[in-house]
Amino acid sequence: MAAALTREGGEDAFRRLFRFYRQRDASDLRGVVDFSAPGGQVFKSQLSISSVSDQDAYRAGLRPVSQWKAYGLNGYPGFIFIPNPFLPGCQRHWVKQCLKLYTQKPNVCNLDLHMSPEKTVDLWGQSKEQLRRKGSSKWEPRSLLEKLRWVTLGYHYNWDTKPCIYQVSLLLGRLNKNLVIPFQSSQNHSWEREKKYSANHHTPFPSDLAFLSEQVAAACGFRGFQAQAGILNYYHFDSSLGIHVDESELDHSRPLLSFSFGQSSIFLLGGLKREEAPTAMFMHSGDIMVMSGFSRLLYHAVPRVLPNPEGTALPLCLDQGLPSDLPVGSVVEHSSDEDWHVCAKYLQSSRINMTIRQVLAEGQKFPEDSGTNGKGQALSEDSHHQENSRAKRHKPNTDS
Ligand code: OGA
Ligand code: MN
Repeated sequence: MAAALTREGGEDAFRRLFRFYRQRDASDLRGVVDFSAPGGQVFKSQLSISSVSDQDAYRAGLRPVSQWKAYGLNGYPGFIFIPNPFLPGCQRHWVKQCLKLYTQKPNVCNLDLHMSPEKTVDLWGQSKEQLRRKGSSKWEPRSLLEKLRWVTLGYHYNWDTKPCIYQVSLLLGRLNKNLVIPFQSSQNHSWEREKKYSANHHTPFPSDLAFLSEQVAAACGFRGFQAQAGILNYYHFDSSLGIHVDESELDHSRPLLSFSFGQSSIFLLGGLKREEAPTAMFMHSGDIMVMSGFSRLLYHAVPRVLPNPEGTALPLCLDQGLPSDLPVGSVVEHSSDEDWHVCAKYLQSSRINMTIRQVLAEGQKFPEDSGTNGKGQALSEDSHHQENSRAKRHKPNTDS
């Protein structure tokens, strides 16, 4: 990696590039690595083809692993990028799950933190008509689904530790890092989110998503991966994800998997320190990223969501529906045209990302005293969604 250990005006190299890409207009993105046309620092990476049967790949909605492409990035051992390995029609299943099923209780979402439980039981049901009718006007009120920022699955974070700061941040619509007092308002920072998994706050992890994750992990050489926690992130063209490290999991020898759907984004992969300049890359619909080994604990962020490169309302890989004959044991299911129509409308201006983690090593338990992973861990992850206040308030962005 280009270890540019620069600090200008007290700003670390990662943050400088975060701001650069966040503000850049979409026509000038030379230098962003594109794995659909790989060059320079990119090399082909080997997959473990024999670890996943073609049948299991099909069941998960994936092409046979022998047909996948996989890439590594110079300077980032353990980082694997797999450009869209999904079978035609299959991404739609995961999109629909993220909007219709995984948003349901007992999963936890950002809206739960400041809305009464009865208002968040059926986000899909409450939003679908509004979404379906929605025109192109930016002035229409946002449906609940459009206000959704994240959902957690499996082991959930213990949000109770800093509820006030978190709620205030949500209300402000932006999150600040290095911040003890919630009202500090320097724009564009990330907020230091307390992230501890709670042993006593666990709900069943969706079995279809666990199956998909197991196949992808196995293809990357990680047999026996257990999907125990997931964060689903929901982005619009004005959202970004702050600079952070995912270190709350107890077993860092297991990979972190990331799946992207809908509109594209720029992903920044940095070093072990924020002073190291990150590498920028595109993530398009269907792309999978694996962070493992040395790359498991690197700083990363999503400064920007961009229209898909084809310039169509939806990426072309989402055009097709599922074939009528699905394999025996398929975890991917048919959905109605009506449901897809709602998803498609949502995705015209949105991106969904699922990150899947194994929290505990095989046989490991949470430390008993706290019920959380509180022992010996650096427990901060600055995260999560920031919204560009320009877009929110329709004012010029002043944070350059
Ligand atoms: C995360 C994360 C990346 C993305 O949720 O921890 O890094 O592309 N997400 O949304
Ligand atoms: Mn992350």
